[in-house]
Amino acid sequence: MRNTILSIFIGITILSGVLVYFIPQTGTIILLSIACFLTVIAIYDSLQTKHSLLRAFPVIARLRWFFEDERDKIQQYFIEDNLNGTPINREKRSIVYQRSKLSKETVPFGTQHNVYAKGYEFVKHSLFPKDHHYIKGERVVFGSDKCTQKYDASIINISAMSFGSLSKNAIMALNQGAKMGKFAHNTGEGGISPYHLQGGDVIFQVGTGYFGAGKHDINGKRIFDDAIFKANAIRPEVKMIEIKFSQGAKPGHGGILPAVKNTPEIAEIRAVVSGTQVDSPPSHSAFSNYEEMILFIQKVRDLSEGKPVGIKFCVGDNDEIEAMIKAFADANNYPDFISVDGGEGGTGAAPMEFTNYIGTPLVEGLVFVNKLLVKYKLKNQVKIIASGKAIDAFDIVKILALGADAIGMARSFMLSLGCIQARECNLDSCPVGVATQDEDLVKALVVEKKNLRVKNYHNETIKSVKEVVASMGVDSIADLKPNQVFRRRKDEEIVSLENIYYKK
Ligand SMILES: Cc1cc2nc3c(=O)[nH]c(=O)nc-3n(C[C@H](O)[C@H](O)[C@H](O)COP(=O)(O)O)c2cc1C
Repeated sequence: MRNTILSIFIGITILSGVLVYFIPQTGTIILLSIACFLTVIAIYDSLQTKHSLLRAFPVIARLRWFFEDERDKIQQYFIEDNLNGTPINREKRSIVYQRSKLSKETVPFGTQHNVYAKGYEFVKHSLFPKDHHYIKGERVVFGSDKCTQKYDASIINISAMSFGSLSKNAIMALNQGAKMGKFAHNTGEGGISPYHLQGGDVIFQVGTGYFGAGKHDINGKRIFDDAIFKANAIRPEVKMIEIKFSQGAKPGHGGILPAVKNTPEIAEIRAVVSGTQVDSPPSHSAFSNYEEMILFIQKVRDLSEGKPVGIKFCVGDNDEIEAMIKAFADANNYPDFISVDGGEGGTGAAPMEFTNYIGTPLVEGLVFVNKLLVKYKLKNQVKIIASGKAIDAFDIVKILALGADAIGMARSFMLSLGCIQARECNLDSCPVGVATQDEDLVKALVVEKKNLRVKNYHNETIKSVKEVVASMGVDSIADLKPNQVFRRRKDEEIVSLENIYYKK
């Protein structure tokens, strides 16, 4: 095949040369130039030894690569319908764009969902709906009896995403939006940057790399450092601390900052070497069993002068989670909140197997943790923040009804910044400046415009939650219960989520 393709290109080049000889016009000269160019590439492709496909099919194989690389875009732009795009379908993406821009508030003609399909979920409305303006419960107070600086939070906050995975403009717009909308912005595990300090409430995340909370020991291992942590934790913007054990997109792995995104500025904030891939360890070096963990949580609380301290994980081994919560109860010392992340959660960069096959999905993880808090009588002390593809008001109502006190949202806030789900967060080529450190691309994101979109998305979503709750005839978002959300489990069987998850 190789020789045939080469012969064709050489033949076309000779023919073009003859044409130029007899008809020396611009068109024939252009044709000859293209033919020469392609022939040189064909000769190069056939001689190189790196790619066998290219050796066998010079030039032609490049087309295959092009379509392979651009497949996602072609799928998204030309093939995808409203409900089948992944991980976030077009319908959900559009609602975020609309709420962020304060554009359309309605959809036409009727649902595109198959309401008779297995798995279809819905809430039941009341004959006596409430006025949504008077629905209560949009805020929730964090802080157990162990904490002295309680935090009055929105039920919707920005989930952890570091400066490093996101651009400085994205972080600034998120934080400014959080300030305008009176909600909280989680720093992610990359530490606190100046871009997080725009006046919005901050949840300071401490990951296993202890960025902004630790240093290297003499063996090069990252360790927690009381003074470094304290200096950040007592900042007035920091309202809560979240110790990260794992996240749903890569549980048991540890964070990854690709080398291409590790700029000198980010390296300085994290105290690492720029231009290298930064892999956070899979587990904490500050503790290695439940007793030490409890002491560490208390130490972090003391160092932060009594702020609420939480732990974030995706549910893995059920026995371990139960042993941990039992240990909290036995010690009569516990975190102020638990952030439960679902296996469906997002990430800037993760190994494929971890994203697809490790970690309990949100609903099962959330219900499991909630049941344990009830069983060990900690429910009134420890709040739950749940995250995992909560995007529209129904998602939120369902998750709250299942036992969460608040919601963390990452990708929907990225969408509010203009993310187009290009899925290039790990490559530094995010075309809209959200998940890149490329200065030119970052400039595409205008902070003064996008901060408003972040605020709008939050506020409009809260409004929509209130409207849904009002339609159910419920007075407060805090009163949602799992017996108010329903699922078609089989063809003719509709069951409440309480029956599915809480009556087993
Ligand atoms: C770009 C990106 C970066 C993230 N970085 C972190 C992180 O630093 N720490 C963390 O605990 N989770 C991180 N996450 C996970 C989110 O905080 C969240 O738990 C998860 O994406 C589920 O929420 P979502 O479905 O609303 O995106 C990241 C997610 C994304 C999309």
